[in-house]
Amino acid sequence: MLRVVVLVSGGGTNLQAIIDAIKADKITNAELVGVISNNKTVKSLDRAKAAGIPAVSVSPKDFADRATFNDALLAKVEEFTPDLVVLAGFLVAIPEAMVKKYSNRIINIHPSLIPSFCGVGYYGLKVHEKALERGVKVTGATVHFVTEGMDEGPIIAQKPVMIEEDDTAEVLQQRVMEQAEWIILPKAIDDIANGRIAVVDGKVRHV
Ligand code: GRF
Repeated sequence: MLRVVVLVSGGGTNLQAIIDAIKADKITNAELVGVISNNKTVKSLDRAKAAGIPAVSVSPKDFADRATFNDALLAKVEEFTPDLVVLAGFLVAIPEAMVKKYSNRIINIHPSLIPSFCGVGYYGLKVHEKALERGVKVTGATVHFVTEGMDEGPIIAQKPVMIEEDDTAEVLQQRVMEQAEWIILPKAIDDIANGRIAVVDGKVRHV
């Protein structure tokens, strides 16, 4: 049984998609053993508690500096002894020590087709604003392994979403979540939990 910890920052709709997928047996061989938020009062913590999942917050505001926060975050993750760490709308940089310790065992959902509209400064609504500004006709979402760089790890799954002419960033964000994020993130966890994913020469292969 794959022990999964989910890191969140906000609304937790991706967390909810994972919770619902496990309940519906769309994710098998996996259990959510913990949810960690960097914010104390967010809906994602309520979603976890409603599902009976241990939920805690580790906020940078509670630490003298980033290094002590990073140590506390890693320690909290380790308390849950996870096999997989899922970043679901988590907006804090992952400490290098954590990336090293959980190599190819941290995955992230990004709301664009990487390598478009990703990297430093590209998160949440801003990603969709930039896609609309550039005038692309297709966007989507990506699940990838987390490495030292931002949004640079091996890509596990992507799903395209059409942009419509009168889209606002908010409308587009919702469509990308509904038509892509909430589908490919649970599927990636199910594939990992059932041994269907391998990283070969830095590329993900479905085995
Ligand atoms: C979503 O746009 C997601 O793509 C990004 O964070 C936003 C909020 O996600 N990673 P959630 O509702 O907190 O899961």
